[in-house]
Amino acid sequence: MPRNFQGTNERFLEGRRTLRIDKFLSECGLASRKEAAKAAKCGGVTVNGETVKDLSRHIDPESARVTFLGREVNYRKFVYILLNKPEGYVSATEDKEHPFVTELLPEEYRRMGLFPVGRLDKDTVGLMLLTNDGQNAHRLLSPKHHVEKEYRFTCKVPLAPNTEEIFKNGITLSDGYECKSAALISDEDRLGGRITLTEGKYHQIKRMLAAIDNRILTLERIRFASIPLPDTLARGEWRHLSRDEIDSLFSKEG
Ligand code: URA
Repeated sequence: MPRNFQGTNERFLEGRRTLRIDKFLSECGLASRKEAAKAAKCGGVTVNGETVKDLSRHIDPESARVTFLGREVNYRKFVYILLNKPEGYVSATEDKEHPFVTELLPEEYRRMGLFPVGRLDKDTVGLMLLTNDGQNAHRLLSPKHHVEKEYRFTCKVPLAPNTEEIFKNGITLSDGYECKSAALISDEDRLGGRITLTEGKYHQIKRMLAAIDNRILTLERIRFASIPLPDTLARGEWRHLSRDEIDSLFSKEG
């Protein structure tokens, strides 16, 4: 980005990003531009203590003190949310037939353009990250970065004694795809265990189990990079990632 850049919604002056007040309020998920304009008309928007009616004015979002309808606005350009995905939800931001994961978040987050980082099948439960930080989400998903995803599973038939080794050596799926090495740790009864992948192909674990003539019965993601699924979060519940958790995601991708 050039040092001085003039766009309609945002500008860069000496490297600092400024943006229109209405854009700022919508980035914070508080109001659409129209709603913001309506609130401003009634004196509902202040910047650094001054009531503002013209929302096309630019502010520095990092330093301006803004209130909206009497409440101080906490500026966060990018939001990272950890959701404990319940069964039956599709990993999408909209769907005509099925419930979708962003429905589990308040409306203001949907307005901020949050989307799931990668996919879990409709019947898979557990840890799902959502963000509106497209560029960094892409980094987490890129196979180049080998981000670990760990799952707990149960299966139909007991795992053969050499399953760990087959998965470690890279199992070949029925379509010929050679999976990367995956760590499988079986439960004692061999009817389930944990698998850690560094890639995320469509239905990957189900297809891996199918390749050894077995079948996944239940699947739960319990870790994404350095972030474990907290046991304090019930299915369907969510929380923000802390600053430290976000930083740890991107220190060598977890
Ligand atoms: N592998 C699968 O088969 N399904 C998931 O949802 C995730 C990994």
